[in-house]
Amino acid sequence: MPSGRVPAGSEISEAFAAGFGRHPEALWSAPGRVNLIGEHVDYNGGPVLPFAIQHRCYLAAARTKSGIVTVRSEQFPDEIVRVALDDLRTGTSREPGTGGNAQRFAGWASYVLGVIWALEQVGVRVPAVDVLVDGQVPVGAGLSSSAALECAAVGAFCDLAGADVDGPQRATIAQRAENDFVGVPCGLMDQMASTCARADHALLFDTYDLSIEQIPLAASAAGYEFLVVDTGAAHGLVDGEYASRRAACEEAARTLRVKLLREVADRGPDESAALVAGIADPTLRRRARHVVSEILRVSAAVEALKAADWSRLGALMTASHNSLRDDFEVSSPQLDTAVEALVSAGALGARLTGAGFGGSVVALIETSRLETAVSAVTTSFSTAGFDTPTKSVAVASQGARREPPAT
Ligand code: GLA
Repeated sequence: MPSGRVPAGSEISEAFAAGFGRHPEALWSAPGRVNLIGEHVDYNGGPVLPFAIQHRCYLAAARTKSGIVTVRSEQFPDEIVRVALDDLRTGTSREPGTGGNAQRFAGWASYVLGVIWALEQVGVRVPAVDVLVDGQVPVGAGLSSSAALECAAVGAFCDLAGADVDGPQRATIAQRAENDFVGVPCGLMDQMASTCARADHALLFDTYDLSIEQIPLAASAAGYEFLVVDTGAAHGLVDGEYASRRAACEEAARTLRVKLLREVADRGPDESAALVAGIADPTLRRRARHVVSEILRVSAAVEALKAADWSRLGALMTASHNSLRDDFEVSSPQLDTAVEALVSAGALGARLTGAGFGGSVVALIETSRLETAVSAVTTSFSTAGFDTPTKSVAVASQGARREPPAT
């Protein structure tokens, strides 16, 4: 199972020097994430429980006097993007969900440029820079490659601007770049995970009051692993499905006369279920039922983790998947096939992770059953006529960090 290439700081420094003729002045990395549970609740005021994975995005940068921002990527060597810094600073903000600047600049580069724009909006003046990106988080896998890129960029650019910005603020700036510059209406979960996660911990992030708690995640030591199956069926957040789910949740909240569906979940399982059952529109009712039940499952999952009750955690993960499939309708045939194969092969639980509509599944499995589960997924995909999925064991890793400079 591939665990991803991990370039040393010196490797990207050398590549930067080869491309720009000098060494970088700032070097940061930030990880992708898997979400253990709490899906499609971060824009409803709910709590989420992601952890950062070992795949990281590396970003090296140095100031230039040219007034031009130049962005290169190890993954797209032929797409060198150059933009005048003045144009970026005045670049217009876009309404979330309207496509934004992803069409104006090369898709991946718009995330980097968006960070310069978003920093400007909060009063941090980034100088003109040369930038090299080495993104090792699989793209389109639902593992937040874009948050990793944004969060690495925020760290490096704050260093170059001499700005002291704490982790949660950096996450918010990264989200603003994605919402208002790139035009993707995401919540804050991915950026918080990429910025604030700790190795060997899951991050309990409550999007209602923005509080965070680090929850120890000692799965391996207890004889379990988190297996990630990337179905290879790319997901696309920019298309209308994600935005339409958000709109449905807002509509359901209006119907129930609350600001956020979280306030309904806070009434407890019985009262919240009764309130949701009273929504007349069947689609809105199902969407709200997912959100409210998912919020309650996150609290239960945190209790299960604290009690090292792995079976309970697994059962909650599978219940989350079923709710995402049936009530929120964001699953796909590949995701369902992977979940069914993993659970049949003895996983304690499995669920789609991230936005859905494709992307990855995360499963909780006894280490001794890992190989059996991996073969079961491969077989089930081949029987269904799907491309062979990529499997890897996720290791809870550290959030965004400054990398040591080349020696
Ligand atoms: C994407 C978004 C997140 C979150 C998830 C669904 O990953 O970026 O903000 O909404 O989907 O839980």
